[in-house]
Amino acid sequence: GQVAASSSAASPQWSGRMAFVLAATGSAVGLGNIWKFPYITGEHGGAAFVLVYLACILVIGIPLLMAEVMIGRRGRHNPPHAMAALAGEAGASPRWRWLGWVGVLTGFLLLSFYVVVAGWAVAYIFDTGAGSFNTATGEQVGAHFGALLGSPLTLIFWGSLVLALTLGIVALGVRQGLERAVNLMMPGLFLLLLVLVGYSMTTGHFMQGLAFLFNPDFGKLSGNSVLVALGHAFFTLSLAGGGMMTYGAYLPGKVSIAKTALTIGLLDTLVALLAGMVIFPLVFANGLEPGAGPGLLFVTLPIAFGQMPLGALFGALFFVMLSVAALTSAISLIEPAVAWLTGRYRISRARACLGSGVLMWLLSLGTVFSFNLWEQHTLFGKTFFGGLDYLTSSWIMPLSGLFIALFAGWVMSRTATEQELGRGPGYRLWRFTIRYLSPVFIVLMFLNAIGVFG
Ligand code: PHE
Ligand code: NA
Repeated sequence: GQVAASSSAASPQWSGRMAFVLAATGSAVGLGNIWKFPYITGEHGGAAFVLVYLACILVIGIPLLMAEVMIGRRGRHNPPHAMAALAGEAGASPRWRWLGWVGVLTGFLLLSFYVVVAGWAVAYIFDTGAGSFNTATGEQVGAHFGALLGSPLTLIFWGSLVLALTLGIVALGVRQGLERAVNLMMPGLFLLLLVLVGYSMTTGHFMQGLAFLFNPDFGKLSGNSVLVALGHAFFTLSLAGGGMMTYGAYLPGKVSIAKTALTIGLLDTLVALLAGMVIFPLVFANGLEPGAGPGLLFVTLPIAFGQMPLGALFGALFFVMLSVAALTSAISLIEPAVAWLTGRYRISRARACLGSGVLMWLLSLGTVFSFNLWEQHTLFGKTFFGGLDYLTSSWIMPLSGLFIALFAGWVMSRTATEQELGRGPGYRLWRFTIRYLSPVFIVLMFLNAIGVFG
């Protein structure tokens, strides 16, 4: 099908359900699943954290995904504009516009570190492809990654490349080609993950890896871990970053939002769990630390690629697919800002990309330096990158998610939401969840994290 979302027409539209599902899945599935999910699961003790995360996806993530796509579709504009229009329709204050704003800003902040990590993935295409990890020990693989992190110029090079690619694609509107690429890459990534799960089964530590992922010990779970799990549910489903609202604005009216949101939530969760099933057996088989931090993926997978037959080929392919998955997410992180700038100031997409790109590049330096020059400069124990990630994922996104839930459940009229989502038992379940369960759970998790429950 033809996807016209990137054309300069006033109200571009996806050709249909499939094009939207591809783009939205492309946004959801990314570094969050394969890089971030395993490393934060490792840091927060495993299965109990995973269960909280799964509960958050179900009770908060999927209903909110429906809400955001719905708001985007009904508002038919960039997030601030859509929020203001729908508030107007409901007779509420246009100040709700701010919520759309926060989404645009969040996407911007997230992209500033997203491109740096995506740069690691691109660098690893060449490293694994060249066979650098053939028969490498865990120690050698760790040293290789350490050397990459230790070189600001290398990080800046790869990060800038990813940023330029992202902005180029968004500016030129060549997303059609990219969606076709997603069509190919998603199943490819999925297959390759299955191959890797097969490899992990041969390590002799597969069951230990599974137990770490699925056998919960709730004693290990702190209030902060619960908040991180909640934040990750937002991050991984691309919520509260303006992206899903913006994509929803291009969605034709007849497509079922509920079905689509369920599909996206399911695929996204599956990819994350598969990544965990690949990585943790490798961690235990090689005597590594599950809590090794943001480098976990990059110090475990190369060991496998270095040992398996055709490892250099599989490795290069894997990092190509990871890079494409990251790119399709990165695009949805900047699209809200571009949609807003072009709508508000009537400037071209190219200008909007250039302007936001320069700012974002400067901000990305903070993340680059977090791993070398500024490694020791911490605030409350967090580097620039750690702080930015924590602030956006654990605080800003759940908080704006709370307000989006309140908006969809209490401000928008029942008639309006029913028109978008359709009547029936599914609708009633959604409405009850978004009005009561999602907001109450988010508030409880915040209170828990600040220590109200002791
Ligand atoms: N969902 C993406 C991932 O898991 C990241 C993302 C967050 C994209 C917010 C868009 C908006 O990698
Ligand atoms: Na994701």
